[in-house]
Amino acid sequence: MCGIVGIVSEKAFSSRTLLERLKRLEYRGYDSYGVFDGREVRKRIGGIRVEGRGRSTAGIAHTRWATHGGVSERNAHPHLSCDGRIAIVHNGIIENYEEIKKDLVRKGHSFASETDSEVIAHLLEDLLRRRSIEEALPALIRALAGTFAVLIMIKGRDKIYAIKRDSPLVLGTADGRTILASDIYAFSDWTNRAAFFDNDEIAVVGPDGHRFFDRNGKRIRKPLRTFRWEEERTGKRRAKHYMLKEILEEPSVVRRLLFSLGHDQKPAFHKLLRLIRRSRKVIFASCGTSYHATLLGAYYLHQVGMEVQTLIASEFRHFAKVDRDTLIVAVSQSGETMDVIDALKYAQANGGRIVSIVNVPHSTIQRMSELSLNILAGPEICVASTKAFVNQAALLLKLAQAFGFKVNCDNLPDRIQTLFKARAKIKAIAERIARSKDAYIIGRGLTYPIAREIALKIKETSYIHAEGMMGGELKHGTIALIESGTPVVSLINNNDADIISNTKEVEARGAKIFILTNHPTLGGSEDTVHIKTGNDGKFGILAAVAGQLIAYYAADALGRPIDKPRNLAKSVTVK
Ligand code: M6R
Repeated sequence: MCGIVGIVSEKAFSSRTLLERLKRLEYRGYDSYGVFDGREVRKRIGGIRVEGRGRSTAGIAHTRWATHGGVSERNAHPHLSCDGRIAIVHNGIIENYEEIKKDLVRKGHSFASETDSEVIAHLLEDLLRRRSIEEALPALIRALAGTFAVLIMIKGRDKIYAIKRDSPLVLGTADGRTILASDIYAFSDWTNRAAFFDNDEIAVVGPDGHRFFDRNGKRIRKPLRTFRWEEERTGKRRAKHYMLKEILEEPSVVRRLLFSLGHDQKPAFHKLLRLIRRSRKVIFASCGTSYHATLLGAYYLHQVGMEVQTLIASEFRHFAKVDRDTLIVAVSQSGETMDVIDALKYAQANGGRIVSIVNVPHSTIQRMSELSLNILAGPEICVASTKAFVNQAALLLKLAQAFGFKVNCDNLPDRIQTLFKARAKIKAIAERIARSKDAYIIGRGLTYPIAREIALKIKETSYIHAEGMMGGELKHGTIALIESGTPVVSLINNNDADIISNTKEVEARGAKIFILTNHPTLGGSEDTVHIKTGNDGKFGILAAVAGQLIAYYAADALGRPIDKPRNLAKSVTVK
């Protein structure tokens, strides 16, 4: 949440360049933004407008997802010190900001915003009264409690100072430019070489290059690493939104993943199988859409007699019993979700072993893991996750297959492509659902996780209240909410008699039924999407794709800001 970026260059660049880079991080937060080009601060509410005047050799910028203080220009970053000489941008939460602020107010500081972040600029100003910058930065790290990735500029110096703890920060180099950013997407079209900050590290970046220091100010070596981050094609191209573009990319990203699991990632995949076999207990930890993928994975593994547990990461420490024989499998698109990181820290402290399945290479979760597999979905820009979910699920399906689950994974890309032929029908269904204020999605077994995932997609993108439920649970309460015309989407795998009964129960109470099924003779013509696939578990993934399209077209019919829904951020780096 919040994106920060800074550039130091041998040659002068315009604010436009800085804003272009910031725009690539807009999915991290988009309520307001600001830049500092070494001379002045400019801030705005709303989406980033790439425009620029003035040139400089260093600048920092920030796109915000509000935590402390409402959405206003004065709460937008960068924040300045009292004397206006120090400008900072911050991602994270300073937990002891009230204490620091009180102390600084006593010393005569006055504050312009309601944010926790502003104290960083003021505290540094105070520390610099008695220290050089080289001494002040370690002191600043020691004084701050909480999470932070901070970029600092001092007026009149063409340098950026960076400090980090628990919030992501990376450094890339390209053609005489050094770029600091919250994630590699800020510069992955410029370079595939980057250094990844560890906690309590400091970097000083000037036109002559960069140097890293530890929390005591001692110089450390940090090699640049090469990362693989395949972009399908930049921009939305012909698709109206990134969400649609990313859904349409699913056949090709699944193909890429399946190929990789049989080739370059084969040794890692086999190591994961060995680790699972040797562990007494396996627990998945994840959030949101990634959690739904693990729920599906747990279903697949259960079919071959394996007992795995899956927990929502923010509740992990309350429900997981971890010891040295426990393997924790973290699943995360961004690899930066704070709730997952927190669960992993808890697991590590209790002796658990950590492996992960991530999309963003070299992300924090990947670096915390003894083994990590990449889902290779490439950059996912729409805040609502689609292609990453499909590749997470495909990887977990391959895992179950390796343990004996009977499935043909190779034709999954073609099956998704075939499903796209039903887009017009799916759109018509979505437009009917869009007329309602509520929707219910029901499934059982294989399709229960998918019911939850489709409901989440509908909520995020269209703002329609949607509940994804176990079909069997409806009659235990929620059925009270079914009225004449309430849309219910039923996910029916292979003529499953129980979910068919649950569907009939709501239909009898006036619900408007829509069906997604792989059974060729079920349902009516207009309200049923027949998905071509057998009874081998792939229906779960394909129904999720159909649900993603329902969510997309419903949101489009309602004119929602599909790629950047209100209140959300792509990478949730706060607890
Ligand atoms: O990056 P992660 O997979 O760890 O993110 C987890 C959730 O925040 C994420 O899936 C979220 O639910 C998305 N907005 C879903 O579309």
